[in-house]
Amino acid sequence: MTKHQMSIRKKKYGTRQMPRRSTRKMEQPGIFEKSTLQILRTALGEMEKGYSMLPSNNPSVEDQKTFERVILEAAERMKDNYPYFHPFYAGQMLKPPHPIARIAYMLSMWINPNNHALDGGRASSNMEKEAVAEIARMFGWKKHLGHLTGGGTMANLEALWVAGQLNPGKKVVASQQAHYTHSRITAVLGLEFEPVACDRNGRMDVEALKKYLDYYEVGTVVATIGTTAAGAVDPLDEIVGLQREYGFRLHADAAYGGYFILAGNLDEQTRKAYDRISEVDSIVVDPHKHGLQPYGCGCVIFRDPSVARFYKHDSPYTYFTGDESSEGESSPVGLHLGEISLECSRPGASAVALWATQRFLPLVHHGEFATSLEKCRTAALELHRKLKADGRFITPFQPELDIVIWAPVSESVTRSSEYARKIFDEAAKDNLHLALVELPAAFFETEPSGMTKNSETITCLRSVLMKPEHLDWLEEIWKVLGRAADRALSKEVKT
Ligand SMILES: Cc1ncc(COP(=O)(O)O)c(C=O)c1O
Repeated sequence: MTKHQMSIRKKKYGTRQMPRRSTRKMEQPGIFEKSTLQILRTALGEMEKGYSMLPSNNPSVEDQKTFERVILEAAERMKDNYPYFHPFYAGQMLKPPHPIARIAYMLSMWINPNNHALDGGRASSNMEKEAVAEIARMFGWKKHLGHLTGGGTMANLEALWVAGQLNPGKKVVASQQAHYTHSRITAVLGLEFEPVACDRNGRMDVEALKKYLDYYEVGTVVATIGTTAAGAVDPLDEIVGLQREYGFRLHADAAYGGYFILAGNLDEQTRKAYDRISEVDSIVVDPHKHGLQPYGCGCVIFRDPSVARFYKHDSPYTYFTGDESSEGESSPVGLHLGEISLECSRPGASAVALWATQRFLPLVHHGEFATSLEKCRTAALELHRKLKADGRFITPFQPELDIVIWAPVSESVTRSSEYARKIFDEAAKDNLHLALVELPAAFFETEPSGMTKNSETITCLRSVLMKPEHLDWLEEIWKVLGRAADRALSKEVKT
């Protein structure tokens, strides 16, 4: 363990909890958090009491030896992964669930509720409604319609499906930097999709949007609140102004950036966009991105609960139980979650995990959850500052959220792209995992560093610093990155 890692551990655990020096080998804290597993056992015992009226039917595992062998085989196979959970994984949008989400999810596995209808998951359906209502409140909505989905793609599909029902035959537009899912989803829904140009900051160009609105019949505008590549936030304040003028439906794809509404350290321009989010018609946010949830947890919410009418169907074989709850509702009284969702069977476990996480880390300004998002952004700003001050790199713009983009300085854009790939490989050799992204070369001001723009696009390095621990690990990350860049550059010179 390096000196820096030791100091991080000291900060994290305090000196008293640090293992004492002894002549014996120092006990390692391990890589995975396991201490909460004993709480799972206690909670299982508690949950079991709710079913104690039943005759015993404990399907024990007869062949425990084979069971263990197979599980160990699975553990062996799972070693073949990038260490997504570790701060040294600073590449794609990947983040481990919070331990409370993990334990709550596992707890519900002994029941395996299905949130299609109350028949399949009574408690977990109510937990879903409560958790989704909290998300809606975070965006400023007291009334809404909404539910969890398998992820951001399904959530966006539902939002655009409702948009298409309200504006049939009209175009859907989103920025060129919007997630590629929108062009695919609209194809599935039989709606026409048009990409709108971006400005140099990767945000939707409002002038370009205005031209579109003047020229075409646009039914829906998708504003991306945190683009996947760069975390750019479309200027929602201006787009809301255009909505008043042109009357289109406005959807916010906040799958990645939605939770940053709670962060207190956004730039003024970015904050302006978040301050208008309550005025859109629908919002998608992914609890399985910044919401600390296991994969399989997206969320769609609508401002007008009456869009529930589009989901109507007349299945004869579900919904034999009535829905009595009404407070802080995510669905109008009398409707099951299965009646306001395109997906039928859905994991109740996702709702239990999300509910528990939000109880533990409430979605409030200045709370622990908000602070952890602020740390991610601070880490991104700090990495950006270091890159800008270092002559080996150029950066296109300051991060709006927690995603950093940079390119190595070279004689041309194509050489820079090659160099970026080499740094990516060299860093991985030292266990630092970055990501690569193809962006318009126009995002970069290449002239001052003497780079010729011999290509429309540039492959650059990208780091999604979405773990709050990234801030503590930044010095270490920077050292490894610097060494990787030196090695890549010296190889570059030799070739
Ligand atoms: C802005 C945005 N929208 C939609 C999606 C798709 O979400 P999912 O991967 O959960 O289906 C993503 C994924 O990265 C995203 O960043």
